[in-house]
Amino acid sequence: MKAKSPLLLIAVLGFSATTFAQDAPIKIQAQRHRARARAVPVSPVANFGDPLPDLTAEQNAAFGAGLEEFQNAETIESGLGPTFNNASCVACHSNPGIGGSSAITVSRFGRLVNGQYDSLAALGGSLFQQNAIDMGAQEQIPKEANVIAHRQTTPLFGLGLIEAIPDREILRNAQRTAIHGIKGRAAIVQDVVSGQMRVGKFGWKAQQATLLAFAGDAYLNEMGITNRFFPNENAPNGDTAKLAQFDQVADPEDQVDPDTGKSDIDVVADFMRFLAPPPSSVLSAKLSPSANNGRNLFHQLDCAVCHKPAMFTGANPIAALSSKQVPLFSDLLLHDMGTLGDGIVQGAAGPDEMRTAPLWGLRDSAPYLHDGRATTVDDAIRMHDGEAAESRDRYIQLTPQQKQQLLDYLDTL
Ligand code: HEC
Ligand code: HEC
Repeated sequence: MKAKSPLLLIAVLGFSATTFAQDAPIKIQAQRHRARARAVPVSPVANFGDPLPDLTAEQNAAFGAGLEEFQNAETIESGLGPTFNNASCVACHSNPGIGGSSAITVSRFGRLVNGQYDSLAALGGSLFQQNAIDMGAQEQIPKEANVIAHRQTTPLFGLGLIEAIPDREILRNAQRTAIHGIKGRAAIVQDVVSGQMRVGKFGWKAQQATLLAFAGDAYLNEMGITNRFFPNENAPNGDTAKLAQFDQVADPEDQVDPDTGKSDIDVVADFMRFLAPPPSSVLSAKLSPSANNGRNLFHQLDCAVCHKPAMFTGANPIAALSSKQVPLFSDLLLHDMGTLGDGIVQGAAGPDEMRTAPLWGLRDSAPYLHDGRATTVDDAIRMHDGEAAESRDRYIQLTPQQKQQLLDYLDTL
């Protein structure tokens, strides 16, 4: 039975959300109960940035090699640019430990006219690169852009566990009956690694399905390092003559190391996969009386519908990721967030749709929301809109003491 499960997972990948809606609900229910019965919590780690507990020696070594590569600053000789945002992953992902977040934002632009969205790809959209290896290659946000969004760096803790959550678990979240206007849908995107349609899990718009795909995307778009999944450089604002002038390193710039058989994107994906979740283990933690009341409010106000306290990984060849509870506080679905949407169309997400932000590690990740517009958690809740409008309004109506209880609870995550 155990050996069969990875096959089951692969079989599921080809299915669309609609196929699933027609699938026998009883069978799915039984599978879920089995998954939950087997799932165990991950033992808590001491510090942000620690590897998962219970890795094999080989996996720990892969984590170590990835940790080093994650901090490696690319140079013009190694392929940096011509346009880029920063020279290393850690430059942005550093707080409160390596692999974390930061208040650093990147910018995306597009153009919306009469309901028609254009990502302005021909002008270098949708991601703006703030730096260049030469002034002559420097990008500008084109004057055609009338949508400009800023995106804050997200933390990478525990992403291996999120990757190991089977697509079918997320599709199932989308099947629940709408509660107080809350629906949500899975982002079905093409995974550049397998070529298959998968559920997008990563990024503010759930735009990537796997860590390796995200690593390839980040190497190209944040650092200008071409790789086997993203083999073509970004031309500065779409200008191919400028690209030819400033791009001196042959593509793909990320080459396989003959000693290890891996390229940098593989090594860095290993680091992210083996990076432990934030050190708190809320599901087992003893809560203060105030935080305990806050937990009840979190459920009563429907926060827990979108910010689902736990999901479960399936059977996985990596024992440290197999059948684990993942206390991420997200359903990994896209929700129409109304005025909180960032206006950008990306992956499967429309302009107003955002992925439910996981809340684990929240207390160490200020400022909040996709562009860091909220300096406090209270502000972040008040800025919810769209599908979350009713939940937000009920939060606003709480007494000051109840609000404090909810905030005390969120501070334990
Ligand atoms: C210039 C700053 C910057 C650099 C450099 C950078 N990132 Fe990021 N990273 C971000 C931002 C901003 C986001 C959120 C992006 C979004 O969803 O639009 C992000 C998101 C991610 C995510 C998604 C996390 C989640 O919660 O789903 C992964 C994975 C990631 N980065 C990996 C990397 C890797 C690997 C590197 C190095 C190759 C890297 N990043 C370099 C800023 C950066
Ligand atoms: C309809 C789904 C939905 C509901 C209901 C909802 N949220 Fe959210 N929440 C989101 C989404 C989506 C985001 C990310 C939005 C963005 O940044 O654009 C988010 C972001 C947040 C953030 C900021 C996280 C960060 O890392 O920046 C906090 C805090 C939060 N929610 C708490 C709550 C609380 C508390 C409630 C209940 C009162 C609640 N949410 C109800 C979907 C929801």
